[in-house]
Amino acid sequence: MTATLSDSPRVIEVTSTQPGLPWSERLRVRTEDRLPLAAKQVRIGMLAMNMLPADLLQMQGLYGVKPELPYVPGHEGVAVVLEVGQGVDDLKAGDRVLPMGAGGLWADERVLHRRALVQVAAQGDVLQQAMLTANPATAWVLLQHQRVLQQGDWVVQNAANSAVGQCVRQIAAHLGLKVLNIVRRADAVPRDSAEHWLVDEGGDAAAVVAQARQITGGATVSLGLDAVGGSASATLAACLAEGGRLVVYGLLSGQPSQMAAHDLVFRGVEMSGFWLARWFADPANREAGKQVYPALMNLSAQGSLEMAVEQVYDLAEVAAALAHAARDGRQGKVLLRGASYPLV
Ligand SMILES: NC(=O)c1ccc[n+]([C@@H]2O[C@H](COP(=O)([O-])OP(=O)(O)OC[C@H]3O[C@@H](n4cnc5c(N)ncnc54)[C@H](OP(=O)(O)O)[C@@H]3O)[C@@H](O)[C@H]2O)c1
Repeated sequence: MTATLSDSPRVIEVTSTQPGLPWSERLRVRTEDRLPLAAKQVRIGMLAMNMLPADLLQMQGLYGVKPELPYVPGHEGVAVVLEVGQGVDDLKAGDRVLPMGAGGLWADERVLHRRALVQVAAQGDVLQQAMLTANPATAWVLLQHQRVLQQGDWVVQNAANSAVGQCVRQIAAHLGLKVLNIVRRADAVPRDSAEHWLVDEGGDAAAVVAQARQITGGATVSLGLDAVGGSASATLAACLAEGGRLVVYGLLSGQPSQMAAHDLVFRGVEMSGFWLARWFADPANREAGKQVYPALMNLSAQGSLEMAVEQVYDLAEVAAALAHAARDGRQGKVLLRGASYPLV
């Protein structure tokens, strides 16, 4: 792979989080001057960037972190090294890297400190690599570090066709866990799937619980993974065994998570929240945290971790891409490509 500098690197800037405005009026595309590198810095050319629900929430002022306006959005992507600053001896132009913990990735180029970059295989699938840092890690930590589970144990999750849901299914298979997958529409269930699926259109929680029991054969289900909130949390909690744990990690419905007092008080079902950023920031998780990405990179390289892609847009088409990413019934992720993308 050759790495060259593009003529005028672009960045996307969020200029307003005002609800109701079309995306095109909340964003602008700006070109940036290229500054010289300081010691230990690396100039990277963005290849592909994911569009996460977290990006959309942040752009509406609804996320856990609210940057000052204007800001460059984007939490996840893959890049090629363009240039390295003094003191960077272990990366060279043409290497492929994942920026870790850095925002502002919806851009053609970024300058980051060497320690914010993790090298990945230069031959890997660019789009899969662009989706590797947030959702697969969330699925990994939810399955490995929220409840002690043994091979053969059951887990139940909703939004099972989301990218996190896809990763939960694949990582669970790798760990020997069984997953009861709940989706909100029948056509989200893959054809001829050997997995366990249940469609909950939001009407009858008791019927969902009865179907869940039938599918699991009444086995103990001790972990529930909730990306939806609202009444879906209560349904998932009701599917859990006594003393089970419901982990709320997403707010897709935008509604406060509900849970029946009966489940909470008499059946001792616990409800807790999960945010990957907080989990990684907790010093108690330092050692476990070091295992996460090597394990995921291995699974991805073996082809055991793959997320569906619906469409890739150029950075300049960001408003159309955002409208697409916010659409229900997608078949996979919407990604952006940066100026370096044609190089691979
Ligand atoms: N806490 C954390 O650290 C963390 C980390 C990563 C992700 N997340 C959260 O995880 C969730 C999933 O993220 P993702 O990137 O995997 O999503 P995604 O790939 O964009 O998929 C979104 C999915 O949610 C489904 N969905 C949307 N609204 C729903 C609703 N009201 N009820 C049921 N299903 C609904 C969609 O179903 P249809 O196909 O039917 O439209 C689609 O399958 C998001 O809430 C995200 O913020 C949290």
